Amino acid sequence: MGALDAVYSRSMEDPEGFWAEAAEAIDWDRRWDAVIDRSGAPHVYRWFTGGRLNTCWNCVDRHVAAGRGEQLALIHDSPITGTQRTLTYADLQDQVARAAGLLKEMGVATGDRVIIYMPMIPEAAVAMLACARLGAVHSVVFGGFAPNELATRIKDSGAVAILTASCGIEPGRVIQYQPIIESALEQAPDLVKSIAVLQREQAAWSLRDGRDRDWVEGLASAAPADCVPVAATDPLYVLYTSGTTGQPKGVVRDNGGHAVALKWSMKAIYDIDPGEVFWAASDVGWVVGHSYIVYAPLLHGCTTVMFEGKPVGTPDAGVFWRVIEEHGVVTLFTAPTAFRAIKKEDPKAALLKGYDLSKFRALYLAGERCDPDTLHWAEEILQVPVIDHWWQTETGWPMAANPLGIEKLPVKAGSPTRAVPGYDVQVLDDQLNEVPRGEMGAICVKLPMPPGCLPTLWNAEQRFIDAYLSDYPGYYKTGDAGYMDEDGYIYVMSRTDDIINVAGHRLSTGAMEEVLASHPDVAECAVVGVADAMKGQLPLGLLVLKSGVDRPEAEIVAEVVRKVREEIGPVAAFKNAVVVKRLPKTRSGKILRRSISGLADGQQVAAPATIDDPAILDEIRDDLTEIGYPQRG
Ligand code: COA
Ligand code: AMP
Repeated sequence: MGALDAVYSRSMEDPEGFWAEAAEAIDWDRRWDAVIDRSGAPHVYRWFTGGRLNTCWNCVDRHVAAGRGEQLALIHDSPITGTQRTLTYADLQDQVARAAGLLKEMGVATGDRVIIYMPMIPEAAVAMLACARLGAVHSVVFGGFAPNELATRIKDSGAVAILTASCGIEPGRVIQYQPIIESALEQAPDLVKSIAVLQREQAAWSLRDGRDRDWVEGLASAAPADCVPVAATDPLYVLYTSGTTGQPKGVVRDNGGHAVALKWSMKAIYDIDPGEVFWAASDVGWVVGHSYIVYAPLLHGCTTVMFEGKPVGTPDAGVFWRVIEEHGVVTLFTAPTAFRAIKKEDPKAALLKGYDLSKFRALYLAGERCDPDTLHWAEEILQVPVIDHWWQTETGWPMAANPLGIEKLPVKAGSPTRAVPGYDVQVLDDQLNEVPRGEMGAICVKLPMPPGCLPTLWNAEQRFIDAYLSDYPGYYKTGDAGYMDEDGYIYVMSRTDDIINVAGHRLSTGAMEEVLASHPDVAECAVVGVADAMKGQLPLGLLVLKSGVDRPEAEIVAEVVRKVREEIGPVAAFKNAVVVKRLPKTRSGKILRRSISGLADGQQVAAPATIDDPAILDEIRDDLTEIGYPQRG
């Protein structure tokens, strides 16, 4: 039996013992009564009920108390502004305690929700930890979302305060946050009472009396606040992610299970030790940013790198190598799309030459399927293990990985390797039977899920049950389809719902369809994901116009493209749409999105048996050819 087999079996046979042992690595104000509370079965399982702790204490104060105050906690490397800043654990403690004091002055109490809308600056991490310190529930919103999406999140979470900055910076443009937030507040009035703003030199925010506070002045005058112990099962944060409709799902993360699982993952999965430098090149607005820029590295006493830039163009495709060398990065975690972007700019990795990457031990990729070409290219140029691993916003940490801290298994390109201890991953058919190895099915996790995974959706228990637990009773439905091979390696091939993955960002085609359908000239529409050599997938819209509309099609296409950007945000990367006469449908009226994306990808698409009129597929193929699909390389 290999080392992973042994650890995995123990996690399955004795989850209570396994996770109780892992929980010893966390400081508790009160120990738990039950490791797994099964009283809400068959749907809800809670971890460490009765236990009390503070996540911020475990991320910050405990390291200072243990004499590590002078160690770097955070390195901010911002090629986009040409600046760098560092914070030791002692600095971080001071900032976070003051920010928590400021939150108290702003009227925020334990359990209140706080929206964080910040770019990749240290204050974003400080803001998250300050909420955790008070037991307030943060909800970070990614900067690439439009006011409408921000408003949806303010309303759904019932946020009372916002922590923000005057701007974000994208290559070639400064994004003023004030107009975005003011517009969102008009759509979500009467909830937010106060806002703290970090003024950046690239843009000014004009402070409104009675509502807005200057972050720097606020921190300078605030009385540092202590950590407030909360129940292990109390929410630490709500992170909204795409569902199948325009209403995003508020994934809830608790305090206790989250701290235990994330701390455990740092050694077991990422094989990193306290004091070493860990870099997740993502954004705090995504789950990767929550878990592996902020919480996990700090829980483990590492130094985390916060990178404000892009893998290419800030200034070039060598920036990742510069950051790894300059800060002594041991482990990098990013999305395959970042490596595809680097490979496109610098296929021979000429910019890598001259950099000393001797401390660098492993590259981890997640967020989307990792194509074998990208994996092999990264292995070849870096000469370190390249680990594809699979997880979702809902789980908060990996479900499948090659856990280098337990045992390095052989890499099979195209697979994120095997189920991580704690996750009973099974590939099922509709009758809840495991399909034979090598055959495709729905990838599910037998309940209970390990600690750290979502216990519910914010204010939407029934939606939680309907979306994840009802189709396969006794299992959590991941929404991914794929297969497992004879060695237990998992292959994640596609989604079973309308979610697409654009540059490692998870987007709902249903949400985009809602925007297109609201255009006055559009009678019907469909949005599908089309393969893209760099971003993995890109959305494509098909529009059927209302009869009698005789405006130029190009005008309507331009309007819907603008509308998606305005209502969802630039991150949707919705740039292509085509007007068609009819949409292919089943006889019962369901749009055949898979056939459409197959056609756009240039595949031989056979008419499904259920299709209403097979001739429509030829019409669509012609329409797509006219606008340049399938696109090559
Ligand atoms: N605020 C405002 N706008 C943002 C934004 C933010 N925080 N992040 C992205 N955008 C905008 C971009 O400016 C771009 O706008 P444009 O249409 O005007 O060009 C659009 O949203 C799409 O952004 P992005 O997906 O980042 O594409 P890109 O073409 O700018 O860059 C990559 C391509 C591959 C370099 C980029 O996607 C990348 O770095 N990916 C890494 C993946 C990653 O971090 N994934 C997170 C999960 S691990
Ligand atoms: P998100 O919630 O944004 O992290 O997106 C999660 C989804 O991204 C998963 O359900 C998968 O569809 C996809 N995904 C993430 N990691 C991988 C991976 N390593 N391989 C294949 N798909 C992945």
